[in-house]
Amino acid sequence: MKIGVIMGGISTEREVSLQTGQEMIHHLDRSHYEVVPIVINQRADLITQVQQADIDLALLALHGQYGEDGTVQGALETLGIPYTGSSVLASSLCMNKQLSKMLLKAAGVNTPVGLYWQGMDDYDPQAVEQLGYPVIVKPNMGGSSIGIQLVQHEKELLPAVKEASRLDQTILIEPYIKGTELTCSIVDGEVLPIIGIRSAHSEWFDYKAKYEDGGAEEKVIQLPPVIEQRVREAALASYRLLQCKIYARVDMILCQDVPFVLEVNTLPGMTVNSLLPKSAAAAGMTFTQLLDRIIASSLH
Ligand code: DAL
Ligand code: MG
Repeated sequence: MKIGVIMGGISTEREVSLQTGQEMIHHLDRSHYEVVPIVINQRADLITQVQQADIDLALLALHGQYGEDGTVQGALETLGIPYTGSSVLASSLCMNKQLSKMLLKAAGVNTPVGLYWQGMDDYDPQAVEQLGYPVIVKPNMGGSSIGIQLVQHEKELLPAVKEASRLDQTILIEPYIKGTELTCSIVDGEVLPIIGIRSAHSEWFDYKAKYEDGGAEEKVIQLPPVIEQRVREAALASYRLLQCKIYARVDMILCQDVPFVLEVNTLPGMTVNSLLPKSAAAAGMTFTQLLDRIIASSLH
């Protein structure tokens, strides 16, 4: 079977995607698959390259906009080429933090909810005062914490909002929930061991903590059974509600034993420092086996 590993792309997470792609290529079982790396450098590349490669399956190593957000999935659907991960709708929904949080909240899943601003025109420090500092400022659609800032005081608000609004028209201002950052990887509806994260140099799991060697301590966390159940249920409820399939990673903060879902990643990172492969390893699954499973279910 011929597998095209689609990576690169034009989002802010291009570098991360190239690392995910390299790691996938390194671990794919060559006795089962013929592997074709497909590096996307501009949006129009995708269709020509995929058609020329004549692949049986697109293994998506893309992250962020024009990759994880349903656009590539839609193109592949149109071409009739099977691909790994969630479908168009779930991919778009999960990339849009504002809409996914609204759905989670309506379904009773805890998630930090604050203000949604449409660009600088909505800038309103008074509203943030009411929410209470510290707050987290985020571009609505993004990944790998790019453009996200922890704002402790009003004087830091304007630069943070300007930075976020460079990346997206919609900006989220959320209450900062202090607690333990957790992540739940899900493969085919099965929740893998929960990983707890302690960033080495920052108060939260920022880009450096995510991708630099030694940036964070990430290990399977032992929680009291009742709390663990609560975390697993919140992860699974989010995955199902947002109609994810094949695999995803649900990021959360556990605050006073209550899990708050931050987001669902439909194409979670698979770099050497990424969490999903660590969680799979803790469940006894090698990277190669994890890829076999993702490929098999995506073809099903
Ligand atoms: N957006 C990055 C790749 C992640 O969620 O792992
Ligand atoms: Mg993300």
